[in-house]
Amino acid sequence: MPGMGGMDLLDHIKNQQPQTHVIVMTAQDTMNNTILAMRKGAYDYISKPFDFNEIYELIDKVTASSQVTPPQEKASVSGTDFSMDDIVGKSKTMQDIFKTIGKAAVTQLPVLITGESGTGKEMVARALHFYSDRAKRPFIFINCAAISRELLESELFGHEKGAFTGAVEAKKGKFELADNGTVLLDEIGDMEIALQAKILRVLQNNEFYRVGGKEPIRVDVRVIAATNQNLPELMEQKRFREDLYHRLNVINIHLPPLRERTEDILLLANFFLKKFSVELTRGQVFLSPHVEQVFKSYQWPGNIRELENVIKRGMVLASSGPMLVEHLPLNLQANRPAPEPADSTWDTEMNPLVKNFLKDRFDSGKGQLHDLLIEAAEKHLFEQLLEINRGNQVATAKDLGINRNTLKRKIDAMNIEPKKKKEKPSY
Ligand SMILES: Nc1ncnc2c1ncn2[C@@H]1O[C@H](COP(=O)(O)OP(=O)(O)OP(=O)(O)O)[C@@H](O)[C@H]1O
Ligand SMILES: [Mg+2]
Repeated sequence: MPGMGGMDLLDHIKNQQPQTHVIVMTAQDTMNNTILAMRKGAYDYISKPFDFNEIYELIDKVTASSQVTPPQEKASVSGTDFSMDDIVGKSKTMQDIFKTIGKAAVTQLPVLITGESGTGKEMVARALHFYSDRAKRPFIFINCAAISRELLESELFGHEKGAFTGAVEAKKGKFELADNGTVLLDEIGDMEIALQAKILRVLQNNEFYRVGGKEPIRVDVRVIAATNQNLPELMEQKRFREDLYHRLNVINIHLPPLRERTEDILLLANFFLKKFSVELTRGQVFLSPHVEQVFKSYQWPGNIRELENVIKRGMVLASSGPMLVEHLPLNLQANRPAPEPADSTWDTEMNPLVKNFLKDRFDSGKGQLHDLLIEAAEKHLFEQLLEINRGNQVATAKDLGINRNTLKRKIDAMNIEPKKKKEKPSY
């Protein structure tokens, strides 16, 4: 596409023909691009290489939905002038999450983010804010589990002077501070039921009272809630209000545990290696193949935060060069996978020969072990080199450092078939 990038084209199309559905096909499937494209109103975003069946299905979906398309709201797009740490993830679930962030960022609807501890809930909440039109307004974070019930109420809604002992001055709460911005109610599953009713009122009427206040205060705040608890379960135990749940759960983003997106593990590990390299190490640290194995098979109960800490620790211990299993915490070392079945020529070809020979040592082969082994090794070596040299005997003889006539004689004697290395197909 000379002259104009895909994102600009998408802007143009959406400005001139908002009802046009645009599917972006791209090689640049970064988090930023995916979120931006969806935010600009793309119908879907797929990265190359893709499967044509996927495209056919999408086109069917577009055709079906264009018959019922409501007029599209034009999103004002502020570009990419914000800085946000990359949310790393190539797995299908993470790509879908980026798309949801892009779509949800342009709305004012509440979002409920669920997922185990350390899966990135806070990160997603921040992205929702930074990709929204509220990006330049405050993002206010409050951990509902960390504060006592009485304090939490005044933290959230503020208090008037003299509302309780110690309230020597009136104070604004988080909701007031976040006006026109976003509030993240973290660990909402731990909030007391009485306070939940007050949150519900903010969601319904955009207003609340300070502790000890008589006048309702109106705010325009986008509410995002996060929890690692199972809210439906809490509702059954009457510890979470059902009406609040439905209010919050308009858009749900569920972050899967790391063990369910194994394809992201090494990606994240390398991301952290790079991120902390300046701060923590003298030279470059990289993962040894063995450590990669351990990482891929470990269950990661603490999810990405645990991975992040394991990498930091390993980097300090390795200092420079490969991070080895001994640089990992003991619980990961215990997870050390069994050594891989050896796949060397010795194991697959020579060893059986020796074993057979020893088994039948009184039989016909007696006294020929040396010759048999050498011949087997030689054959294997010739075959490999001939394959690398695409059957060219002159080049092979040169590599081996033997006379080409000798090579030819041996090839004939050993019945080696000239195997041509397959050409790489070019597209
Ligand atoms: N996809 C990701 N890419 C890069 N870093 C990530 C990603 N997800 C999480 N992290 C990092 O992992 C750590 C934990 O993430 P975060 O605090 O968002 O998780 P959480 O779900 O809120 O955890 P908790 O339930 O413990 O509060 C943070 O340091 C964050 O930067
Ligand atoms: Mg958190």
